[in-house]
Amino acid sequence: PSNQMWGGRFAAGPDAIMEAINASISFDKRLYAQDIRGSRAHAAMLAATGIVTDSDAAAIREGLLTVLSEIEGGNFPFRVALEDIHMNVEARLKEIIGEPAGRLHTARSRNDQVATDFRLWVREQCDAAMQGLQALIGALLGQAEAGAGWVMPGFTHLQTAQPVTWGHHMMAYVEMFGRDMSRFADARARMNESPLGAAALAGTSFPIDRHMTAEALGFDRPMANSLDAVSDRDFALEFLSASSICAMHLSRFAEELVIWSSAQFRFVALSDRFSTGSSIMPQKKNPDAAELIRAKIGRILGATVALFTVMKGLPLAYSKDMQEDKEQVFDAADTLMLALAAMEGMVRDMTARVENLERAAASGFSTATDLADWLVRELGLPFREAHHVTGALVALAEAKGCDLPELTLAEMQSAHAGIRQDVYSVLGVHNSVASRQSYGGTAPDQVRAQVVRWRERLGEV
Ligand code: ARG
Repeated sequence: PSNQMWGGRFAAGPDAIMEAINASISFDKRLYAQDIRGSRAHAAMLAATGIVTDSDAAAIREGLLTVLSEIEGGNFPFRVALEDIHMNVEARLKEIIGEPAGRLHTARSRNDQVATDFRLWVREQCDAAMQGLQALIGALLGQAEAGAGWVMPGFTHLQTAQPVTWGHHMMAYVEMFGRDMSRFADARARMNESPLGAAALAGTSFPIDRHMTAEALGFDRPMANSLDAVSDRDFALEFLSASSICAMHLSRFAEELVIWSSAQFRFVALSDRFSTGSSIMPQKKNPDAAELIRAKIGRILGATVALFTVMKGLPLAYSKDMQEDKEQVFDAADTLMLALAAMEGMVRDMTARVENLERAAASGFSTATDLADWLVRELGLPFREAHHVTGALVALAEAKGCDLPELTLAEMQSAHAGIRQDVYSVLGVHNSVASRQSYGGTAPDQVRAQVVRWRERLGEV
């Protein structure tokens, strides 16, 4: 038999293969709550504008609640022949309330319906991402506060560069995840317009009230152009783009945790709760959660590229290609929320190995810049010359197999006669970080000030 929704002009039903490629119910059933919410708002508007009677609208709105409870109770008969969530819900409504169900689709198309449902869903995911990020930032702030004064090596090229504080390193990620939060907030604000009432593409001849449905669904306003309303998926692309950037940040941090937890570094101990063992090597404790978080960017960025590729070159307005938007966004959203939660748990549970951090911070001539700065400040050397003198002392220490503070004063003076005993005070790692008082610098005071600013920003104080 032909499709009961649109089969009027069809003599035969679809081939099984056609049904298999066409149907989206297996995945778009996830939009059921948004679909029912949108339909209830639409029905109320149809009554308010006199397009359907109050009693029909009431029967529709009530019946949709029955459908909702069937779906949530797990006893809804999903049917592949009905293609998607929109037609499954409407067909079931007809079985429950009869004739008035056929009036629900007045002045509406599946094109504006799906655009509305999907916007509502993605909008919720923006909120979920912001919540996940807020929790992760909270965990990082805890680490930063505890370790505002713990010294560790800062790296460039993964070579020891200058000492920094643990708190400063944690706060660097707070800044990144904070920008991610604001990207989701921006995307949410921009997507918060209602496509409903755009109908198939051209609007409708019925006297609908798009402002009413927009308001009922929590949108700021109706979208201004009906062609755009049914064709646009840039709200989904923005969500995916923000998700990709966030996943990239997660991946970088995860990589650091993998390195830091290795036997060669021993900077952190990850908790048992976020590690796994090996089935052959009894000593192993593997940072699997960190590794998986490092990898999840692959799926999320993959989804982003997939949807860009689907959308590019599509003429206005709706094309069925656009049905390919959902699985990508669903998977990316699920993946991101899981990765955020896993990272939050790992950060809350991890323990910095403070002595190892400090020992590593003091190795690799990490305070060479402090020595050069001393030569500039105390002896008035041009920085370039100070750099050269310090370089000679690093070479001397390297040849002796010692660190800079272990050179004797006489050895120091062999590179520059003016060097005095008090130079040693700047060669210690704690002095080094404490001296980095410039705004945003690594000094413990600066880090504590950043923590306070963030707690205020998150409304925690
Ligand atoms: N399942 C479809 C989708 O997700 C709904 C819109 C169908 N519209 C249409 N004219 N075939 O895109």
